[in-house]
Amino acid sequence: MATKAIGVLTSGGDAPGMNAAVRAVVRAGLSYGMRVMGIQRGYNGLLNGEVVEMNLRSVSDIIHRGGTVLYTARSPEFNTPAGVQKAADKCHEIGIDGVVVIGGDGSFRGARDLTGAGIPCIGVPGTIDNDIASSEYTIGFDTAMNTAVQMVDRLRDTMESHDRCSVVQVMGRRCGDIALQTGIAVGATSILVPEVPFDFQKDIVDRMTFTQKTGKKHFIIIVAEGVGGVEKLAKNIEEATGIETRATILGHVQRGGSPTLRDRVVGSRMGAVAAKLLHEEKSNRVVVMRGGKITDLDITEALNMKRVFDKDLYDIALRISI
Ligand code: F6P
Repeated sequence: MATKAIGVLTSGGDAPGMNAAVRAVVRAGLSYGMRVMGIQRGYNGLLNGEVVEMNLRSVSDIIHRGGTVLYTARSPEFNTPAGVQKAADKCHEIGIDGVVVIGGDGSFRGARDLTGAGIPCIGVPGTIDNDIASSEYTIGFDTAMNTAVQMVDRLRDTMESHDRCSVVQVMGRRCGDIALQTGIAVGATSILVPEVPFDFQKDIVDRMTFTQKTGKKHFIIIVAEGVGGVEKLAKNIEEATGIETRATILGHVQRGGSPTLRDRVVGSRMGAVAAKLLHEEKSNRVVVMRGGKITDLDITEALNMKRVFDKDLYDIALRISI
């Protein structure tokens, strides 16, 4: 029988630590005696046959780099039954027997469909948002939060000098985890997340006025991208409180940069487990963190799970950031 060959791709938004996961898939895969192919530009690259054979040295010097050395892309063509079949045919043509897909929920849906078309796939959660219900942690989350904290600390310096209020939008389209953790770490007076409705007067103005009476003169309000509207919010705060207010959108700066130790280690562990699962002929699985341990679940089961927002942590933030 010919040597088994596996492919690895990164899909959706990039995240720091994806390179550590790619490196682990390649090195663990080779250690099991499999060939490993790097598929560039996600499912799109697979459809176009953008595939390079990897060896031990192909992934040298990447563990500390942000972004993804395999590049990433969105692929409208792959999101059709014909596109999935074409991708499966391409795998047969190139000789790829299984694929590790590093990305978010959308990428996992693609992995499930490609498995259905006869190519065993394993998902690895990589996205800064931490918005995958089946996993307590997604690769890139820690680095993104640390970047956000550093940026807000800088804003705090200038807000403090001017007795101002800073309204800062952090990433997280449907998930307030970056906002919540960053908000706690910077002592934000209010944290607005898509999971919890807010009342402008009670949750922002009253909290600022109360804190002002205790002697505080500068304020930080953290807003998740999914809530948005920071320019208008800043204007409304200035009008309601008389405190000069500035809005800042941190944006894609949170997606870049050298991964933290946590993202390098979790990426390495998850990538190695994914290669092992393909070596063991497993299919349609997603590597997840549950109870602090790395394990795996059926992709369809994982995709049906509902995310639970950490309301207890949110309540702690409100209690102590005042
Ligand atoms: O999913 C990660 C993420 O950074 C979200 O927080 C954000 O909404 C989105 O990707 C931005 O996507 P794009 O890179 O396409 O602008």
